[in-house]
Formats: sequence, C-alpha cells, structure tokens
Amino acid sequence: MARMTSSDALAGLRPRLPSPLKEAVDARFERHGVRLLLKRDDLVHPELVGNKWRKLAPNLAAAGGRTVLTFGGAYSNHLRATAAAGRLLGLRTVGVVRGEELADRPLNPSLARCAADGMRLCFVTRSVYRRKTDPDTLAAVLRAADAEDALVVPEGGSNAAAVRGCVELGRELAGAADLAAVACGTSGTLAGLAAGLAGSARTLGIPVLKGGFLTGEIRALQTEAFGGPRGAWSLDERFHHGGYARVPADLEAFAADFEQRHGVPVERIYVAKLLHALVTLAAEGAFPRGSTVAAVITGRPFP
Ligand SMILES: Cc1ncc(COP(=O)(O)O)c(C=O)c1O
Repeated sequence: MARMTSSDALAGLRPRLPSPLKEAVDARFERHGVRLLLKRDDLVHPELVGNKWRKLAPNLAAAGGRTVLTFGGAYSNHLRATAAAGRLLGLRTVGVVRGEELADRPLNPSLARCAADGMRLCFVTRSVYRRKTDPDTLAAVLRAADAEDALVVPEGGSNAAAVRGCVELGRELAGAADLAAVACGTSGTLAGLAAGLAGSARTLGIPVLKGGFLTGEIRALQTEAFGGPRGAWSLDERFHHGGYARVPADLEAFAADFEQRHGVPVERIYVAKLLHALVTLAAEGAFPRGSTVAAVITGRPFP
C-alpha cells in the first residue's frame, strides 16, 4: 500500500534549502569587473538534484499517494529523479519513454537506474510521443500503463505547479545578484526563477536545444502558473553547441577545465552550456563592470 505523499513526507527527505550560494573567483570575470556566484542547487538533495527537487516536490505533494506518470527520453534526468522520488516516498511511478525500439535493447544506465528504483517503463513510438498531450493518445497511454488514475506530469516536469515551485529559487537569489542565469530545456525553471526575482534582477536563459521556440513556452507557462507574464527575462540562443545532448570536444574541455578551477562537478547537457555561455558573454563585455552574475547549477553529472 503506497504511503500518502504529503508536505511532511517531502520535508522528511531533508532538502538543503535555501541551496548554498558561493562566489567563484575566476579571472575571466574578474578582468571585466564582474563577480560570478554559483547557486548550488545541485546540493539540494542527493537524488532529487537541483531543479528536480524544486519542480517535482509540488507535484509529488499533489499526487497524494497516486501513481505518478511522466515522460522523457532515454537519458532523461527528469525520469531518473521521478523514479528516485517514487522509491523514497513509496509512490508507484511510470515512465513513458520516447523510442519503441529501446524496448528490445538492454537498458542504458539511466533507464536501468529508473527500473531499479521501481519505475515501470513504457516505450512508445516517436510519433505517439509527439502526440502525448493529445487527450486520446494520453488516454491510450494511461490505459496501456494500467495507470488511469495517475497524476500526469509533463515532459521535463514543467507544469504550473513546477513553475511555482521554482519561484523560491528566485526569492533565494533576490538581492544577491544583478543577473541570474539558467540553462533551459522546457524552460519551467526559468519561468519560476524570473517570477521569484521579480523586480530585483534580470534573468537570462540559455536554451540547450536548437530551435528558438521557448519564448512562447515561457509566456504560456507563466500565464498558466501566475495568470500573466512575470519578471524581466531574455534568452540567448547561441549556446546550444549543435543541439540537445551534443557535447562537442571544445565544450567537454571547457567543462573539465571549469571543474578543475572551481572544484564543482559540471553536468554536461545543461550546466556546461550555461557556464560556457557566461564566460563567452563576459569576454564580449556583456555584463556591466561592478555587476554580479549568479549561475544556477541545476544538476550534477550522472555517473
Ligand atoms: C540539469 C538540468 N538543468 C536544467 C534543466 C532545464 O530545466 P527546464 O526544463 O525547466 O528548462 C534540466 C531539465 O530537466 C536539467 O536536467
């Protein structure tokens, strides 16, 4: 019998909140008169890492003990975090995975971790996956997963509850920086962060996917979560390095060097692109002298 998930059960997982905020002394910023702060959301919880805690906690509380069904690709950080949450809170979880062909192959380490945490994996074709928000397709997926009463959490975990969960991240940073920067996948984290910062600082998003479609997504998420636009945010679309999950050799070298300089593990798919963007922007003179930039470290490398 699943335990009821409540705010108390989540608090029992003892998240480290507010997450630490540390200055990183880095000549590439110092020479332009800019301070770099690292907002260590990667230290919030060992298994619900970074923005996963902020986005999932309100959804897990809302699940009230029901099955949680969600979506992701074969290496999804979000699927792993949801599976871990299921194990920690005694909730049944279902992961709908993009790529029917994966069902016939050995599980990769990320999906194997999900399965070990008790997540039921349902592999669907790319065409079904694309149509996953269509009500008939979703109903068929829920039936096939024997999870018709499930709380459905969208891909990347970004819904109104998740966006509201990320507001606290902005509040924790308010007054500490002139600009807060975050890597964007679905952009739920940025939508909440910008709202939490309100008038106190600007927010910069670095999309890791090619395509330039996030502006509309952010507006839609903020409207769903708050009833309208919030905060001063912008995107710089130049730092996707070829697209989602592409880590070219120069980015890999950059990330390894950053880890050496600062002793901070750098997740490659999102965080490396964010930090590379900030170093490039500093070199371009994009940040005013005397300003403070906070980089949100939203994740940790998966071993
Ligand atoms: C480590 C990490 N950083 C950033 C993001 C982007 O978050 P969002 O999808 O809210 O834009 C993700 C997405 O899941 C992530 O795993």
